[in-house]
Amino acid sequence: MDRKFKVAVLVSGGGTNLQAILDAQKSGVINSAEVSLVISNRADAYALRRAHDRGVEAMVITKKKGAVSEYDVPVIEVSKENFEAEIIKAIDEREIDLIVLAGFMCILSENFTKHYEDKIINVHPSLIPSFCGEGFYGLHVHEAALAKGVKVTGATVHFVNEIPDGGRIIAQKAVAVEEGDTPEILQRRVMEEAEWIILPEAIERISNERLHK
Ligand code: GAR
Repeated sequence: MDRKFKVAVLVSGGGTNLQAILDAQKSGVINSAEVSLVISNRADAYALRRAHDRGVEAMVITKKKGAVSEYDVPVIEVSKENFEAEIIKAIDEREIDLIVLAGFMCILSENFTKHYEDKIINVHPSLIPSFCGEGFYGLHVHEAALAKGVKVTGATVHFVNEIPDGGRIIAQKAVAVEEGDTPEILQRRVMEEAEWIILPEAIERISNERLHK
């Protein structure tokens, strides 16, 4: 069998994007890549259960003291200074080819992003350059879109550099805002109609291109 691109997915929460990636692997939408590591900065992230259920190696790397995980995964407690170094160690030990930020709610330093130039991608729940940058994450993005009264929003997959949400755009998909939307309803629609589609597609495309170049 041909070699597959080794992917690490970094998460912080529910992990529905991780689930979409794992499902895309199963259905064949992702054929050139394989998730071989999931790292969460939170011990209570449900994404850990999703990884565990699919037999994917998962771990917690956290700055929080005394964190325990109910998901039967190793918990590595680190100081603020060692947080990124520990993530780099885990990734480099496994010779990961591509890092996917899927709801990872930490801003990574320039030191980290330079170490993996063009090897980190992120999914963001708006059409960048709208509603992005520091402070725009998760539900806040949809709250801001509704407050502005935009009629169209969407999701973006982009490379990660030292500027929050500032790296080269890989894919975007527009989603309609509807009358009566709440942030939660809009978030769900953006996930279903955009994020869960363009993120797995981007992983496949990048992995395929790089494996065969
Ligand atoms: C997703 O909507 C993702 O785009 C967003 O957080 C959610 C995570 O959901 N990410 C950001 O806002 C990053 N700036 P998930 O844990 O269910 O995949």
